[in-house]
Amino acid sequence: MEIKKVGIVGCGLMGSGIAETCGKSGYSVIVNEVSDQALKKGQERITKSLDKAIEKGKATPEQKQKVLESLSFTAKLEDLKGCDLIVEAVVENMEEKKKIWKTLDPCCGPEAVFASNTSSLSIVEMASVTKRASRMLGMHFFNPVPVMKLVEMVKPITVDEEVFTTARKFAESLGKTVIVAKDTPGFIVNLLLVPYLLDAIRALEKGIGSREDIDAGMTLGCGHPMGPLTLTDFIGLDTTYYIAEAMYKEFKDPRYASPPLLKSMVIAGFHGRKAGKGFYTY
Ligand code: 3HC
Repeated sequence: MEIKKVGIVGCGLMGSGIAETCGKSGYSVIVNEVSDQALKKGQERITKSLDKAIEKGKATPEQKQKVLESLSFTAKLEDLKGCDLIVEAVVENMEEKKKIWKTLDPCCGPEAVFASNTSSLSIVEMASVTKRASRMLGMHFFNPVPVMKLVEMVKPITVDEEVFTTARKFAESLGKTVIVAKDTPGFIVNLLLVPYLLDAIRALEKGIGSREDIDAGMTLGCGHPMGPLTLTDFIGLDTTYYIAEAMYKEFKDPRYASPPLLKSMVIAGFHGRKAGKGFYTY
């Protein structure tokens, strides 16, 4: 099968980046959000990122225009019914994701492929609420999507080999390098990344170093592009917390347990860069 039309559910940090990236690669894209207001915010995010790409010499104003023309927006989930592939990028919550797949499954054509951008949740469990388990898989993008070169393809035990190959080719057509992971919480990248971020928060909590020194330790000492606290702000403290919770629930390993400081900050709404406040103020 050929993928021509892509539906994106969710136009937050990840959904907007995925939509922009698909548009850049020549796909026709329809983006869904819960409200016109959320769509407007997502649209603005895409325009801002395209402007940055121009500023950095990675795109021309003509390319920006072409990408914007390839995107359409809707607050009605059912409008995604004509898509060959749907990528869901909503909040990291199983019930929310199931609700979306349950609504889309009877609307979409039998050939349509469903992919979740989940960072940690079970694809098989999401697929269980649909009649297309063989056409569902994980496609995990990284933030900022237009810049990060990786897509982690998550292969559940239920997926059809041909469908997986089609989705893999699609990810590669976006100019991304693919790695393949088993459908277990955290997959490859977050299984390694999240305990590191949690340890940095524990180090801050214990007063081992200041936030600046913890971050500088890893940028200047280890050559990471961002220190762990800046990176947690960048990913979102809420998202980091939800991923940690999902991993802890499955493995019961204290390495994945959320430090109390992270939980308090999430409850307080200090969700990081997108909220204007996290470990740092923006
Ligand atoms: N479109 C296209 N290209 C862009 C762009 C845009 N909107 N914005 C920037 N770029 C390009 C720049 O041209 C530059 O390319 P070059 O290396 O060829 O010159 C490159 O991206 C870096 O851009 P900048 O110079 O503006 O920015 P920085 O050097 O400050 O880097 C960063 C910014 C890429 C975010 C860098 O700090 C970084 O890599 N941080 C780590 C990000 C990370 O770890 N992300 C993964 C998070 S985990 C995740 O998402 C998974 C989830 O499940 C938790």
